[in-house]
Amino acid sequence: TTRTFSSSARMAAAIKNVTVIGSGLMGAGIAQVAAQTGHTVTMVDIDKAAVDKAEKRIAASIQRVAKKKFSGDEGEATKFISEAIGRLNTSTDAVASVGSADLVVEAIVENIGVKQKLFKELDQAAPEHTIFASNTSSLPIGKIAEVTDRKDRFGGLHFFNPVPVMKLLEVVRIPETSQDTYEAMCVWGKNMGKVTVECKDTPGFIVNRLLVPYMFESVRMLERGDASARDIDVAMKLGAGYPMGPFELMDYVGLDTGKFIIDGWAKEYPENPLYQPSELLNKMVAEGKLGVKSGEGFYTYK
Ligand code: CAA
Ligand code: NAD
Repeated sequence: TTRTFSSSARMAAAIKNVTVIGSGLMGAGIAQVAAQTGHTVTMVDIDKAAVDKAEKRIAASIQRVAKKKFSGDEGEATKFISEAIGRLNTSTDAVASVGSADLVVEAIVENIGVKQKLFKELDQAAPEHTIFASNTSSLPIGKIAEVTDRKDRFGGLHFFNPVPVMKLLEVVRIPETSQDTYEAMCVWGKNMGKVTVECKDTPGFIVNRLLVPYMFESVRMLERGDASARDIDVAMKLGAGYPMGPFELMDYVGLDTGKFIIDGWAKEYPENPLYQPSELLNKMVAEGKLGVKSGEGFYTYK
């Protein structure tokens, strides 16, 4: 209806201040794109070293974005970069960072208890109108939202790595998500330069429901000795047109994140053979082999 549209448009237009909690692989990318698209951003992490690392990563990534966007025009590129960086603030105190937020996007560790604890605290500290969203890969949005008193202003905003490049944003609604909130999230996604798809709160939404079983099937193929990691990667790139093979992609996503996802699903759905953990992956994570971010996974990156 017209009323719904106008009020949701108002809500979306009101998303000016964005707080991103977690400044790892995903949080840094989300904060960067939000700053690039004109939002005032506060990027938060409990770990000061993670914030420092994110700032370095953003500085490098935004150079690549500007170079592409303003090919040849150095003046425009420099202006774009300095304006975006100027809109990006950092903090190590989540509760103190949501006081003027219109939208909070959470991208912290994939652990339901840790996420619930955070949102419970933020619910007390954030203004009433603030929309809360989680970037979780695999956890039920409804379960995260249930610790707050704002389920109607809660949803999933699931981005893809690398955020400045990947065009998709999955917008997840729980039964309580209001139409205004849903539409505001979609409009915001478009303002971020993304294409949005609507998802129900089912395990893995759309992309990960297909991608995660595929990744773990690849590991099982390797564990059986059917083919080498390198050959499986070459095969899927040249035979199926994927930009990265499954092992390159797992290294890129983070093996710890992969393990968090499958462990959660295995516990929730023990009868589903697609959701079985892998001994090889467990061993690699225990050894600190997390993929690109730690310098070693299925491949080495030193
Ligand atoms: N920041 C800014 N720009 C970047 C970038 C970054 N971090 N990484 C790449 N780019 C840009 C580069 O500028 C480059 O553009 P130009 O060549 O015009 O300069 C372009 O992207 C291509 O980059 P590269 O040449 O370095 O490498 P590539 O062609 O192999 O592309 C890739 C890199 C885009 C990552 C591509 O390999 C790819 O699409 N891989 C698959 C990624 C994927 O599937 N992601 C989803 C993971 S699952 C997930 O995220 C969900 C979850 O919950 C786990
Ligand atoms: P990451 O390990 O790179 O970063 C997580 C960051 O969160 C760390 O810097 C950590 O210090 C911080 N953190 C942990 N607890 C915190 C707290 N209570 N308050 C503030 N900061 C805290 O992880 P990531 O890959 O960026 O993943 C973050 C989230 O995004 C996860 O839910 C993950 O499932 C999801 N996700 C990951 C990908 C991917 O490809 N890696 C893609 C989409 C979604």
